[in-house]
Amino acid sequence: MNSAKNLRLWLVLGVAVLLAAGLGWMRFATPQAPPGNLAGASLGGPFSLTNQDGKTVRDTDFAGRYRLIYFGYGFCPDVCPTDLALVGRGLKAFEAQSPALGAKVAPIFITIDPQRDTPAALKPFVAAFHPRLVGLTGTPAQISAVTRAYGVYARRMDTGDAENYLMDHSAMVYLYGPDGRPIAFLPHQGLTAQAITQMLATHVG
Ligand code: NI
Repeated sequence: MNSAKNLRLWLVLGVAVLLAAGLGWMRFATPQAPPGNLAGASLGGPFSLTNQDGKTVRDTDFAGRYRLIYFGYGFCPDVCPTDLALVGRGLKAFEAQSPALGAKVAPIFITIDPQRDTPAALKPFVAAFHPRLVGLTGTPAQISAVTRAYGVYARRMDTGDAENYLMDHSAMVYLYGPDGRPIAFLPHQGLTAQAITQMLATHVG
């Protein structure tokens, strides 16, 4: 073998090694879906609740769809309406950029205050944030079961006022997958509509 042939052989080998490394890197750098911050968490589970039209709604009714879930209450003076407005705007932006994927997302509001959040009270409340937002309420036992299963903290504050009481509660936007398993959450602190759109763009496929 002369030296020119030798050089060509080494060049061909070198290019082949670089190509293989490049392909390997691309596969590594573009995974199907990065795991969310709730991947593998023991949260969620079955529920049977009542929607804003008085109809029974179960978790299985959302099978095959992503669930964008927020727990709160309709009488909340600040945090809940602020977060739900961001959920509505974030989802609308996602629907505008990916209509087919947007349709696979079910926005759901679950009350932590079933005493005041009756179906009739929930109906205009949820409609104010997104046309497809489902409002869910239930008996106190049903609500305490679903908040426990979904890891939500909620407590009635003792203000001495039987009707105009406030609720202390955790405030997070949850994304659950089509199989009902948790994917990711965003906390109230620093929440933006863009962050919600981004969370959907990252995980909904
Ligand atoms: Ni609230």
